[in-house]
Amino acid sequence: MDKNQKPIELIASWDTLQRIFIRPEDEASRKTLLKYMEQILFGLHDFLNTNVGVTEEISLKELTRDFKNTLINKDPEKKLTDVITDIIDKIAPKAVNVASPYFIGHMTSAMPFFMVHLKTIITALNQNVNKLETSKILSVIEKQILAKIHRLIFNKKENFYHKHVQSIDTSLGAFTTGGTTANLTALWVARNKLFSPYQDFEGIENEGIAKTMQTFSLDRLVVLVQERAHFSLKKTGGLLGIGNKNIIPIPVDSKHKINLKELEKAIKELSNNKKTKIAAVVGIAGTTETGLVDPLNDMAQICKENSLFFHVDAAWGGPVLLSEKYSHLLKGIANADSVTIDCHKQFYMPMTSGMIYFKDPLSMDQIAYHSNYVNRPGSVDIGIKTLEGSREANSLILDSALKIMGSRGYALLIDHGIKTAKEFAKEIKKRKIFEIITEPELNILTYRIVPPDLKSKLKKVSKDQKEKIENLINDINIKVQRKQREQGKSFVSRTRFKISKYDRIESVVLRCVIMSPMTDINILKEILDEQEDILTRLDIKI
Ligand SMILES: Cc1ncc(COP(=O)(O)O)c(C=O)c1O
Repeated sequence: MDKNQKPIELIASWDTLQRIFIRPEDEASRKTLLKYMEQILFGLHDFLNTNVGVTEEISLKELTRDFKNTLINKDPEKKLTDVITDIIDKIAPKAVNVASPYFIGHMTSAMPFFMVHLKTIITALNQNVNKLETSKILSVIEKQILAKIHRLIFNKKENFYHKHVQSIDTSLGAFTTGGTTANLTALWVARNKLFSPYQDFEGIENEGIAKTMQTFSLDRLVVLVQERAHFSLKKTGGLLGIGNKNIIPIPVDSKHKINLKELEKAIKELSNNKKTKIAAVVGIAGTTETGLVDPLNDMAQICKENSLFFHVDAAWGGPVLLSEKYSHLLKGIANADSVTIDCHKQFYMPMTSGMIYFKDPLSMDQIAYHSNYVNRPGSVDIGIKTLEGSREANSLILDSALKIMGSRGYALLIDHGIKTAKEFAKEIKKRKIFEIITEPELNILTYRIVPPDLKSKLKKVSKDQKEKIENLINDINIKVQRKQREQGKSFVSRTRFKISKYDRIESVVLRCVIMSPMTDINILKEILDEQEDILTRLDIKI
């Protein structure tokens, strides 16, 4: 801007407000809006492509310095074009480039680019699939895609889907905001099924937990799940009045999957106590930390024998069902009563979207709510049986993505992730300073850095000295992970758990999630090289 030129004063007025809401009528305003969209699509796209690194090097302290203004300004500060430019130039470079092939630390990655277009359409249509009056065909599309994924999981007969795909009386599942709310919905249904209305008792949903426990002479309600379950299940325990300490952690076996013997033992012990009821058993298809799949078939059998509700948290692993090569890893999922799958994970959809499915199309009656102005009894409103109220039409994104890529397209992504993770595990094992902790079954693996001199010491020392060395190894892994994150070129995450049940302390492990089709073995080798380099520069005092 010319130095002498006065900045245009921006004032909130009715006229400018009208222009924001009214659609562009003339060629000039159409062109301006198109320019803005171009700015978003290509400005951000260029950023994501050119900034291979994960994030600009900047501390949180520095970042927060510019974000301490707590006053809302009365008049506009900036024009839309300047706001968009600011976001692209100043905010995006300081965000995390989760699309980078070097970003392999979490369950968020690059998306097919058309997802941006589809999400834009959803925003432009702004349908609310809570009710038919604000969504119409989108509710119908949602029911169809729910039936398609239900079929993928449960594979019922053709006439079953013919009957339920658009039925107004039954529900095969629901879209949710994510895995957390999907798991919550599943256990909400499980709890209510266990205490449904009976004679004078109106059901737990009406009566509440205190009256229910009193009526059935109980003092404890529990859910059984392996110790590495996602913490959303604990939240569910809190929200449903079960108590999060009653989400009972079953130990894992030497393969880091639920220990079936321990599960059976726990079921037996808990069932012998007449004051305790088991609301559900949960199996994990792709644990958050290791990506491993519980033995779902065996778990289903155990649940059947004990008449227990069986939920499978396949938030991560669900889409593996699309892969002809690997779907067998989820064998037994069809015997679950309910299944969680996230869309914003391996369906490569934008934040935030998940799904919950029930084998029995009447299950969701357990959580039906009506009101006078919408969701009236007998209406087709999907919102009658969902935890969420107003909801965007994410089903259209999944429906379109499956049209664009087909199940084969998704299978290629899944197969690439698993194949690359296996190659990565081989590479880790070749290098002396690394130790693989959990081999990849899907596309997640964990490993850690153990300098060779510490490795040999570990074999010789007493238990107490061993603990000291383990603490030092933990410290090394934390420092390397942190330094790599700070350097901003690549990112792996870290977690901690006991590597074996005989360990006295938890080990810090590095965790990799390989889902971007651009992440290949050469990139992974570079990431290991960088970690080796950081290690050589660390000041380790043994
Ligand atoms: C196995 C599993 N379940 C549930 C969740 C929770 O999903 P969300 O973050 O979408 O709520 C996650 C998230 O990482 C997960 O890995």
